Amino acid sequence: MARTCALHCSAWFRTKTGDCGDVYSLRMMTVQQRAEQLDTTKFFGVPIAGFENAGRRQLSLLLMCGVEPTSKVVDLGCGVLRGGYWLIHFLDSGCYHGIEPHRERLSSGVTTILEPETLEAKRPRFDVNAAFDTAVFETRFDFFLAYSIWTHASKAQIKIMLDNFVRDSTPGAMFLTSILPAGWRRPVYTGEKWFGTSHESDMAGCIYHSVKWIKDECRHRNLHLVVLGRERDGQTWLSIARDYNKNGVLFRTIWIESRWWRLLRWFRSRRQSA
Ligand SMILES: C[S@@+](CC[C@H](N)C(=O)[O-])C[C@H]1O[C@@H](n2cnc3c(N)ncnc32)[C@H](O)[C@@H]1O
Repeated sequence: MARTCALHCSAWFRTKTGDCGDVYSLRMMTVQQRAEQLDTTKFFGVPIAGFENAGRRQLSLLLMCGVEPTSKVVDLGCGVLRGGYWLIHFLDSGCYHGIEPHRERLSSGVTTILEPETLEAKRPRFDVNAAFDTAVFETRFDFFLAYSIWTHASKAQIKIMLDNFVRDSTPGAMFLTSILPAGWRRPVYTGEKWFGTSHESDMAGCIYHSVKWIKDECRHRNLHLVVLGRERDGQTWLSIARDYNKNGVLFRTIWIESRWWRLLRWFRSRRQSA
């Protein structure tokens, strides 16, 4: 808990005592321009090109899944707050929780991406543990978000995140996450550690997991999985929940269906109405 508060307070203090010119110029910039201000000699875990849109997309999906300003959200591996920025703005004070063990990424997000007045008003809570431990916040969450995390996490780490979801979420909660599905030219990752850049590694890379394996892990925990669809950049969104009826987005699908799928649905509806 001390770690959680310390980060918040130091950023708040810097804002209060910092150079007013900096604060003013930050407010004048778009989120994309702020991301472009990050140190270009370093990798912050996500591409800077398209930073603003990629972050906003995470909020859009949560909105379609029913997130409300009062929802409690935990963002696992929140990095430089690419998605966190929009969630912090949308959610009520104290409702956003971010876990990020790479301290420099997190503090860059807090000081370069987020506006000082938003930090003060929305009081986001952060923790730097590397065990995906959501219990540190002593809260039950309505949403778990792990975007571009299972594209680097080992099977053991995914199991921990699912166990923590069962332990620390409300009965109607939803876990939204993204994967790169394994296939014949994309072997399943069998390593035991995180693969990609982190607080411990500078080696970039992504890994693949089998949807069937994730489905089985969900079933063992009485969780229900829905494959929501694939983004243009290749990541596939999954939604996981205890309750079959509460799982999924508000719309039947937000992704364009393939021609074959549309044809199949048309045949099925014709058969039902006949
Ligand atoms: C590809 S980035 C995605 C960041 C963020 N979710 C987004 O969409 O912008 C993956 C993030 O996970 C963080 N990470 C690495 N190991 C982690 C761990 N054990 N627990 C939580 N986050 C971790 C990395 O430092 C990095 O910031």
